[in-house]
Amino acid sequence: MLERPHSGYRAVLVQLGSSTERDAALNELRDLVRSADAQIVGEITGRLDRPHPAHFIGTGKLEELLQLKSYLNADWIVINHTLSGIQERNLEKQLDCRVSDRVGLILDIFARRARSAEGKLQVELAQMQHLSTRLVRGWTHLERQKGGIGNRGGPGEKQIELDRRMIETRIFRLKSQLETLEKQRATQSRARKRNRVPTLALVGYTNAGKSTLFNRLTHANVYAADQLFATLDTTARQWSLQPGVQVILSDTVGFIRDLPHSLVDAFKATLKEATYADLLLHVIDSAHPEVEAQIQAVEEVLEQIGAAKIPHIKLYNKIDQLHISPRIDRDDTGLPDSVFLSALSGDGLTDGLLAQAITEHLTHMGWSLKAPDWSTQ
Ligand code: GTP
Repeated sequence: MLERPHSGYRAVLVQLGSSTERDAALNELRDLVRSADAQIVGEITGRLDRPHPAHFIGTGKLEELLQLKSYLNADWIVINHTLSGIQERNLEKQLDCRVSDRVGLILDIFARRARSAEGKLQVELAQMQHLSTRLVRGWTHLERQKGGIGNRGGPGEKQIELDRRMIETRIFRLKSQLETLEKQRATQSRARKRNRVPTLALVGYTNAGKSTLFNRLTHANVYAADQLFATLDTTARQWSLQPGVQVILSDTVGFIRDLPHSLVDAFKATLKEATYADLLLHVIDSAHPEVEAQIQAVEEVLEQIGAAKIPHIKLYNKIDQLHISPRIDRDDTGLPDSVFLSALSGDGLTDGLLAQAITEHLTHMGWSLKAPDWSTQ
């Protein structure tokens, strides 16, 4: 495995761009860095006119960063943009500490959170793919790993070639292992369809409250924490929608805005669970200041994984923080479009609003959801 920041890192964040986009991006970056268990000791913002080819940020900014880094005794610089392999290496050299860009940061968090065999394989695949794009002369991450890869003897072209081949072999093996797991998943899903059990998938922006809702509905004990990406693996459980009516509910990985394409691909198998669902429950943190942007980000990712056409209900969660009452909003055809609820307080759940909205949708789709009438047996 690659070296990655451990808890106790003292991070300086760098966010460039116009002031309007900067605040939201910086807020999200802070959450991400905290999710990587690091301490934020400083921040640098500024305009980004044209990325410097050698070190992305301009020479003046680099000087400022160098001073701040030594003044604050920081040991991790996180740049919320995409760096080339060469830019990252140059910055690490000049700043004499670890430097991560947005993809590297998200990969670190994914690596910390993955728990199932499939999740771990997906993270490793994403890391290897990311790594394969950054093998440049003088880049020393592979050499620093315990045991090393291939022959020792300096970062020459030969070493790079050995590293590249080793990475390609590993990527090939990871992909075939993942394909096997994906086939198993598809078989399970077909079996569910044959058994006529409707499948519902919880999707949503990271930290929206999917695991909390999943736990509450299925009484399972999925890890729920106020950290981004607490869930990286899909979990499916039975839920009694009404007495005698069972559905399968699955919790999926949290989405994030601008999820790098390489990660969307690598995590496809996990997100794929959503494409097998009969109905999507889009969990939304209604109290979050960026609520609209988060809804849009999730819809974009659903589009990317081919799940945009699956019927869905928007669940406006955390209404306890907004002090509003639970309710169902309907679309023009009269079908429930949104449910306002709180996974924490149970408003909108214990009163049966969510179950009612789901039942109406499934019935509309043609599912026969009548509870068995035992009295006539
Ligand atoms: P990822 O695994 O990162 O995708 O997150 P998630 O969507 O599964 O969110 P999770 O259930 O872990 O909840 C995130 C945080 O929001 C936790 O601190 C929860 O306690 C909190 N939370 C969830 N639902 C509610 C709610 O209805 N009201 C309030 N006030 N907090 C909530």
